[in-house]
Amino acid sequence: MENRITVHQNEKPIYDIVMEHSFEQLVPELKKIGADEKRICIVTDTTIGPLYAEQVRNLLENQVREVIVFTFPAGEQYKTLDTVRDLYTVLIKAKFDRNDMLLALGGGVIGDLTGFAAATYLRGIEFVQIPTTLLAQVDSSVGGKTGVDFDQYKNMVGAFCMPKLVYMNLATLHTLDRRVYLSGMGEVIKYGLIRRPEFYQWIGQHVQAIKNREPEAVLHMVSVSCDTKRVIVEEDPFERSVRALLNLGHTLGHAIEKKKDFSLYHGECVAIGMVAAAQMSCKRGYLTEEQVKELKEILQLFDLPTDVSGLDKQEVLDATKNDKKMIAGQIKFILLKAIGEGIVDRTVTEEEMTAGLSAVLK
Ligand code: NAD
Ligand code: GLY
Repeated sequence: MENRITVHQNEKPIYDIVMEHSFEQLVPELKKIGADEKRICIVTDTTIGPLYAEQVRNLLENQVREVIVFTFPAGEQYKTLDTVRDLYTVLIKAKFDRNDMLLALGGGVIGDLTGFAAATYLRGIEFVQIPTTLLAQVDSSVGGKTGVDFDQYKNMVGAFCMPKLVYMNLATLHTLDRRVYLSGMGEVIKYGLIRRPEFYQWIGQHVQAIKNREPEAVLHMVSVSCDTKRVIVEEDPFERSVRALLNLGHTLGHAIEKKKDFSLYHGECVAIGMVAAAQMSCKRGYLTEEQVKELKEILQLFDLPTDVSGLDKQEVLDATKNDKKMIAGQIKFILLKAIGEGIVDRTVTEEEMTAGLSAVLK
C-alpha cells in the first residue's frame, strides 16, 4: 500500500502526505522541505503535549535552528481567535520571522488553528501538519482549510492555506480514546459513499481490524481516504464545485452538533447527517430502502449514532440556515445518486430536509 501521496495544484506538486508508523522519518522529511534552516514552533494541546511533544522536540533539537512549544488547553472551545492571539504573542516574543515554521501536532482543532495562524502571521509563514486523530489524518490535515470558531459560529473565520507537508505517525492512534477514534469513521465512510463504492465494501469487510486499529488496515483506510480527498481538492481547491461533496452529512450534521452543544463529536453528527441525506436520496428514488438500512448497519458496527433524541425539528432546520453552505438563501445539499456517487443538489426543499430529519430525530 502506498504510504506517500503527493497533492498537486495546477499540475504542480504542492505537498506530500507521508504515512508512517513512528516519528522516525519526521526529521528527514522536514529536511527535504528546508526546515533545518528554520526556527520551529510546535503547536499542541494539553492532552497531546505530554504524550508526544517532548518526543518530537527531542527529535528536532540540534536538527533545526531552534524549537519552541506552544501548548493550549484541549477542546473545540479553545479553537478561537483568543488562542491565536496567544500564539502570535509567543511567536513575536521568540522573534519568529517569515522564514520560520509552525508544526501542528494534534487533532483537527490544532491543525485548523495552527494553519490559520500560519496563514495570517506576518501575512503567511509555512506550516506542517502532524495529525494525531483519525479524523485529522483522513480529513482535516489535507486540503488546506484552516480556521477558528467565532462566537457560536463554527469555522466562521478562516483561510485556505496549504501545508508544506502532512506527516502521520499512525501509531499515535493507539493512545486515542475509543469514542474519539471511532468518530473519525464518519468521515472515512463518507469517502466510500461519495466516490469509492469498492472502499465502502472494504470497510464493511474489515470492521474488526479497523476497530482493533491493526496497522495494515489503518494504513489502507487512511491512504484511500487521503487519496480520495486528494483527487477532489486537486480538481476544486477552493470549494467552487466538486469539493462540496466532502460536506455529505454536514449540513444537518453541523446543525445537530450545534443544537446538542457539542456533546456529540463531529464525526458522530456527520454519521447522523449521512443517514438523513441517504433517506432523502431514497425518497428521490436514488437509493433503495435496503441501501439506507445497510448504511445504518455499517455506522452502528462502528458504534456511531444513526439517530438523536431531545431535539426540535424546526430548531435544527433553523440552525442550518446559518450554515456556510447556504448561498443566497439556497442550500448546497449533498445527496447520493447511488452508493459511491455523491451529487451537489441546489433544489432540496425544506420539506425534503424535514422528512430527512424525521428519519433521525427520536
Ligand atoms: P480534536 O482536535 O478536538 O481532538 C479530540 C481530542 O483527542 C482532544 O482532546 C485531543 O487532545 C485528543 N487527542 C488528539 N490526538 C490524540 C492522541 N493521539 N492520543 C490521545 N489523545 C489525542 O478533534 P478532531 O476530531 O481531531 O478534530 C475536530 C476538529 O476538526 C473540529 O474543529 C472540526 O471543525 C475540524 N475539521 C476540520 C476539517 C478541515 O478540512 N479543516 C475537516 C473536518 C473537521
Ligand atoms: N472537510 C471538508 C473539506 O475539506 O472540504
